[in-house]
Amino acid sequence: MRTQVAIIGAGPAGLLLGQLLHKHGIDNVILERQTGDYVLSRVRAGVIEQVTQDLLDEAGVGARMHRDGLVHEGVQICVDGERHRISFKDLVGKTVMVYGQTELTKDLMDGRAAAGAPTIYSAHDVALHDIFSERPRITFRADGRAQDISCDFVAGCDGFHGVSRKSVPAGAITTNERVYPLGWLGILSETPPVSDELIYVRHPQGFALCSMRSPTRSRYYLQCSLAEDIESWPDERFWEELKPRLDEEARERLVTGPSIEKSIAPLRSFVAEPMRFGALFLAGDAAHIVPPTGAKGLNLAASDVQYLSRALAEYYAEKSRAGLEHYSERALARVWKAERFSWWMTMLMHRLSDNSFDHKIQLAELDYLFRSQAAATAFAENYVGLPY
Ligand code: FAD
Ligand code: DHB
Repeated sequence: MRTQVAIIGAGPAGLLLGQLLHKHGIDNVILERQTGDYVLSRVRAGVIEQVTQDLLDEAGVGARMHRDGLVHEGVQICVDGERHRISFKDLVGKTVMVYGQTELTKDLMDGRAAAGAPTIYSAHDVALHDIFSERPRITFRADGRAQDISCDFVAGCDGFHGVSRKSVPAGAITTNERVYPLGWLGILSETPPVSDELIYVRHPQGFALCSMRSPTRSRYYLQCSLAEDIESWPDERFWEELKPRLDEEARERLVTGPSIEKSIAPLRSFVAEPMRFGALFLAGDAAHIVPPTGAKGLNLAASDVQYLSRALAEYYAEKSRAGLEHYSERALARVWKAERFSWWMTMLMHRLSDNSFDHKIQLAELDYLFRSQAAATAFAENYVGLPY
């Protein structure tokens, strides 16, 4: 098989890149290790920045998001039982969209099917060859037989545990990492959300987040230890741990019910540098991870894809390599800003130690955030997404 761009991974990064390349008339094949149903079963991000929305529109898959997504003009932060609101609309004139990653992935899959572009699901033993040559090659196993694809470029969109980053010679890559000693236990339930807006909760017992997917479907997270076993978290225990962390009004409004999904995600900050190795370009979680607190992971994946799709379009239309040469530097400049914000918000909102000094510093910083228009504006600017 021969294509122009071989894309590894059918998560949001790979599917969005495929769709944008297709719009530019660039041939691409996506190789995905899992089945399509499995990819759709992963409940993850919920907050979509304006620039990501614009990109989904450009890819021709934004209609359902605009119909069913919830526009949020602000966010609420609850500190030790008292709620504060930060208005994005008033401070920076922007909003975000709450729309599940699952739905967005489905829209991208449907768009790809309508375009007739090939995705090979259940592709096993994917291996990258000759990435520093003009003729890179991918080998894999699918439908019970060995297959290969030759291409001009490879887009490594295969997430943190993917094969692309691991294919790079050790001396060519630098990794920067911080692992936090905690995780997020998340549940999805068919219950109305406690509030019209997301509530990020800082509480002595630990962080919590009240989010949503629709007026009848809620998503909640609780800070948990990494050693936690999901089996020891029946739904009743989750609700009982959540309630005391909320303010009185939210506690009274909270509607509990059976969970329809439950999972634990570890918190990590990670950046690989550079993001390009010869003909291989890393994008999304394959290159970087943020802790979920700032809602940046999916949006960063989209911003990488924006730079990469434009660079490839420029290459095929004008034979210009300028965008490809600058891809890594441009993407990383944005990545580090999102890494900083996600790290800062994680350190601010979680119970990270028993040290009373750490605890008081968090409270002082939060007090500053609520009292200073400059601090609130900086928060709003980062949360809604810095311009590209
Ligand atoms: P992935 O979604 O990980 O996709 C990679 C794909 O590659 C997968 O389908 C995988 O199966 C495939 N793959 C892996 N290895 C191989 C291989 N060897 N061969 C072929 N295919 C392979 N982000 C936000 O912006 N906002 C949020 O509110 C937010 N909340 C989050 C909450 C949680 C609990 C979690 C866990 C994450 C959250 N994120 C959020 C992060 C967001 O989900 C990720 O950043 C996003 O999924 C990255 O997309 P991706 O396409 O780069 O990677
Ligand atoms: C959701 C996830 C996040 O990480 C976040 O910061 C906000 C919302 C969500 O899943 O709804």
